Amino acid sequence: MNLKGKVSYSSPSNIAIIKYWGKEPGDQIPMNPSLSMTLNECRSFTTIAWTTADNLAPTFEVWFEGARASEIEAKMEKWMVKIAAFYPWLAHTALRVETRNNFPHSAGIASSASGMSALAMCLSAIDNHLRQKDSGDIFLQSNTARLGSGSASRSVTGPWVLWGETPLYRGSSHEYAVKVTDVHPHFARLHDTIIIVDKEPKSISSRAGHGLMDDHPWREGRVGQVNENMTLLLQALKEGDWQTFEKVTENEALSLHALMLASEGGMLLWKGNTVEWIHYLRQQREKTGVPMAFTLDAGANIHLLYPSQASEQVEAILQQSPVSHHGFIRDATGYGPEKIFDTYEQY
Ligand code: PMV
Repeated sequence: MNLKGKVSYSSPSNIAIIKYWGKEPGDQIPMNPSLSMTLNECRSFTTIAWTTADNLAPTFEVWFEGARASEIEAKMEKWMVKIAAFYPWLAHTALRVETRNNFPHSAGIASSASGMSALAMCLSAIDNHLRQKDSGDIFLQSNTARLGSGSASRSVTGPWVLWGETPLYRGSSHEYAVKVTDVHPHFARLHDTIIIVDKEPKSISSRAGHGLMDDHPWREGRVGQVNENMTLLLQALKEGDWQTFEKVTENEALSLHALMLASEGGMLLWKGNTVEWIHYLRQQREKTGVPMAFTLDAGANIHLLYPSQASEQVEAILQQSPVSHHGFIRDATGYGPEKIFDTYEQY
C-alpha cells in the first residue's frame, strides 16, 4: 500500500533518582535498575514526514533546529538498524525528521532522553497506521527508545518510571521501562529547578562514561548499593516519606560522581560552583528545615527537587544565593509524551 503522512510528538526529558550508570553485555542492557521522575517542561518537539511504498528505497534525513544534522543522522542510522526487526516497513520508507528542544543544548538536561523518546513515539504512530492498530504499545515504544538511549526508555511515560529488571518491582524488565504505580500523593507533583552552573557541553559522552564501569573496582558494590537504595526509594514513594527520598536522592547523585572520580582517568564533571551550591543548599536546609533534595546527571548542573508547598521558601533561597550561576530552568513532574498531530493518506 502506498501511504504517506506526517506525525508530530513532544516528549519530555527525565531526571533519574536512582542512576543508570554502566551496562551489562548485550544491546543496551543496564548494569542496574534505575528510577526517574519524568519532567514536564523540558521537551523535544519532533515531526516526521513519511512516505512508504513497496518499491521505495529507504532514505531519511534529520533537521535539528532548522539545520541538517549529520551527527544525529549518523546516530539514527545505527539506531534504525537495531529497531528494523520491530518495524520491517522501515526497509521501504522515506523519513524526513525535524526536531528541536525547548531547553538549551548544554543545560545538562538529558536531550537524548527527550529526543529519542519523541522519535520512538513518532515511529510507533506510523506503525499503527501501517498495521492498522488503534494504539501504540508502550513496551515497544520504551524498548525502541531504549535502543537509542537507555534513559530515553523512561521518558515514554510518567510520572515515576523504573527501567531494568529487579526482583524489587514486579513486571520490571531490562528491555523496557514500567510505570511505578504505588506512589503517595505527596509525590504526585514535585518541582525541579535546574541550576545552570556551567553552560559548556560536558566533556565526555555518556556512552564513554558507561564504558568506564566495565572494569570498575566498585562495580559489584555499586549493584548492591542500588538494591538498597531502590528498596528505600520504592518504600518512600509509597509512604510519602520525604526524609528517605531526600537521603536516597542525594546519595545516588554523590555516588554517581564518586564512581566517575574513581574510574580510570578520573572523570570529573563538577565545577567549583557545583560544590559551592551543594554546600549552600545544605546549609540553608539545615537552617530553615525546607524540604529540598539535590541531584545531578552526568554534568555540573544541579537539579533541585522540592514539594509545591516549599516553592516560596526555595525561591527565596535560590534568589539569595551568593554562588553565581547562569540561570534557572523551572520544571516539575510530568506525565510523558504528547501527540501534536498525526495525519496520513493513501497516494
Ligand atoms: O541514557 P544515557 O546513556 O545518556 O545515560 C544516562 C545516564 C545518567 O543520566 C547519568 C543517569 C540516568 O539514569 O539518567
